[in-house]
Amino acid sequence: MQASHRDYWGWWPLLPLYPYGHRRTLRRQLVANQLWVFEQLQGLFAVAVPIRMTVLKLRQGLLLYAPVAPTPECLELLRELESAHGPVVTIVHSTASGLEHKVAVPAMARAFPAADLWVAPGQWSFPLRLPLSWLGFPASRTRVLFEQGLPHGDQLDWLPLGPVPLGPGPFFEACIFHRATGSLLVTDGLISVSDQRPELLEQDPSPLLFHGRDSGSEPMDDTEERRRKGWRRLVLFACYLRPQAVDQVLNRFPFRWRPGWQQDFEAISRQGALQVAPILEELVFPRHRFLMGDWLQRCAQLPLTQVVPAHFQAPVAANSTTLKALAEAWQRGDKPLGGDDRRLLRQFNRRLEQMGLVPMTDP
Ligand SMILES: [Fe+2]
Repeated sequence: MQASHRDYWGWWPLLPLYPYGHRRTLRRQLVANQLWVFEQLQGLFAVAVPIRMTVLKLRQGLLLYAPVAPTPECLELLRELESAHGPVVTIVHSTASGLEHKVAVPAMARAFPAADLWVAPGQWSFPLRLPLSWLGFPASRTRVLFEQGLPHGDQLDWLPLGPVPLGPGPFFEACIFHRATGSLLVTDGLISVSDQRPELLEQDPSPLLFHGRDSGSEPMDDTEERRRKGWRRLVLFACYLRPQAVDQVLNRFPFRWRPGWQQDFEAISRQGALQVAPILEELVFPRHRFLMGDWLQRCAQLPLTQVVPAHFQAPVAANSTTLKALAEAWQRGDKPLGGDDRRLLRQFNRRLEQMGLVPMTDP
């Protein structure tokens, strides 16, 4: 990664994730003059996956959904949009629990002092419960979605996913349907993964080459095969915390993969089909499963053309038939694919239940 001052993110010690103080920002326009995404890489143990902010052009100016780190480069790219399309008027912090999305919000709010900040209800900090203003959220212009209103209701539909009570605080995600482009903006709820690699990792493939090896002594030479292998492994690791096929995660780099891991990838990717994120399915929605089913059914009523999640692939082409099929499969309780890989997530869920950190799973 070429480090420069333009991609410097000084607040990285708040959430020390790869690539630490330097993160590049890539801007892509998904709908001409109406919808853009800003992508950065973020991860643990060099397991770097993209995190994404979506920018919408509204009649009053720009809306930022799920802010990423406002590095000088990121701000420069935003100022370019402002000069062509109007000022940033609204910033949306869309999740109650996703720390990786929360960490950049106060700095982004300071960069746009005239913008209103709307946050998902049920904000919590762990292990200490701190008021939002202590975490750097500007009290005078911060409002809580659904409780204190909903901005831009003439152009947007707001869809709450949750709340699902967890131990330290609830899971809650505020999703937006942008009528002008038929786009559904989600944060962590839905994902799509495939062999299509993020542009940022194509530009800096070192995490791919690192994990594309089977032992530390193998050279990190840059081949298409190694990139593909590295990407598939990053996806499995990020989706399942620790997939079934990995031996001894923390004390050995690169990880040792058991035979069969390639089939695990096929099982989760299904050529990029839209799906409920495995981590949420196993850790959040065993409790209150019906909430996800209701939310999917509600999304299926929308005249949508695409879904823009904050992780993995975007945009994902989708319509009401896609969402209806997903909702029905969920409500029938179809066995999720990649069942073996989910063992660790299920063990983790049971452990949290035993420790009394989350309520018991629905029978
Ligand atoms: Fe997230």
